[in-house]
Amino acid sequence: MTHKTIFITGSTDGIGKLAATKLATSGHHVILHGRNPEKLAKVKNEIISLSGNENVEGYVADFSNLDEVRRLANKVQEEQSTIDVLVNNAGIFKVADPIAKNGLDIRMMVNYLAPYLLTNNLLPLLQNSKEPRIINLSSAAQESVSLQSLEKNSNLSDNQAYAQSKLAILLWSFEFAELHKDITTIALNPGSLLNTKMVKEAYGKFWSSADKGADIIVDLAINTKYIGNSGQYFDNDKGQFGSAHPDAYQNQSIELLMIKTKELLG
Ligand SMILES: NC(=O)c1ccc[n+]([C@@H]2O[C@H](COP(=O)([O-])OP(=O)(O)OC[C@H]3O[C@@H](n4cnc5c(N)ncnc54)[C@H](OP(=O)(O)O)[C@@H]3O)[C@@H](O)[C@H]2O)c1
Repeated sequence: MTHKTIFITGSTDGIGKLAATKLATSGHHVILHGRNPEKLAKVKNEIISLSGNENVEGYVADFSNLDEVRRLANKVQEEQSTIDVLVNNAGIFKVADPIAKNGLDIRMMVNYLAPYLLTNNLLPLLQNSKEPRIINLSSAAQESVSLQSLEKNSNLSDNQAYAQSKLAILLWSFEFAELHKDITTIALNPGSLLNTKMVKEAYGKFWSSADKGADIIVDLAINTKYIGNSGQYFDNDKGQFGSAHPDAYQNQSIELLMIKTKELLG
């Protein structure tokens, strides 16, 4: 097996950390990301020691600050030559104060705007790969994206902000696949209520192991059988590609989101 360079955002916990550990154990060059430098350093050492693979690096950026996302992309561009697989996994459900300094909802930034910005700023590195791939973490929770969700001081409940951000990343994933036929781009619901920190904080119970989500991330990241599935949605509650929210098949919903996103990000 050829070893790939795989960048997983939000790999200091949950299914991202577990997927990173599995990929490092298989010998891949794994690039970790977290928002907390101490936690990132600890996880990096843990993964190196568990996997016996020294080819593990880490970058810090808080995705609730879009300038940090831009700086992260610049640093990765300076230090890396290629990214074969980008897993846009970092995500958040509950936050004490959901409105960030720039006035936007933190869930919309971390779960949608940050991966959009990071991916577009890392395009040259992805295009250096022979077979580039992007896995975008969506969810079974998908709700029509309201214009209000990307306005300043939006007043969304945790469930609304999460479900709208998760449909937003899915709509953009479909659009990105159309625009970049050279990159296999797949949106993923890793399975509902997996045993992770996010789920414990949000629901206080779980239905399935975190391994269920990590294993599908690993498979979609490296298995050649998915090359023809760009622009699709893998629903791991069903264990197969499936239908997303109806908005994902309406050009108007995608266009409106893209216009608003470009307005915000320039
Ligand atoms: N678990 C499920 O059942 C489930 C179901 C559907 C979809 N998903 C999606 O799967 C992904 C991973 O979820 P998980 O359950 O593994 O969650 P998790 O255990 O809470 O891990 C989330 C990761 O994202 C990072 N993160 C959170 N806020 C961030 C910020 N502001 N800036 C940068 N990184 C940040 C976390 O960093 P820290 O370590 O510092 O907290 C952590 O590394 C998410 O996108 C989630 O929406 C999960």
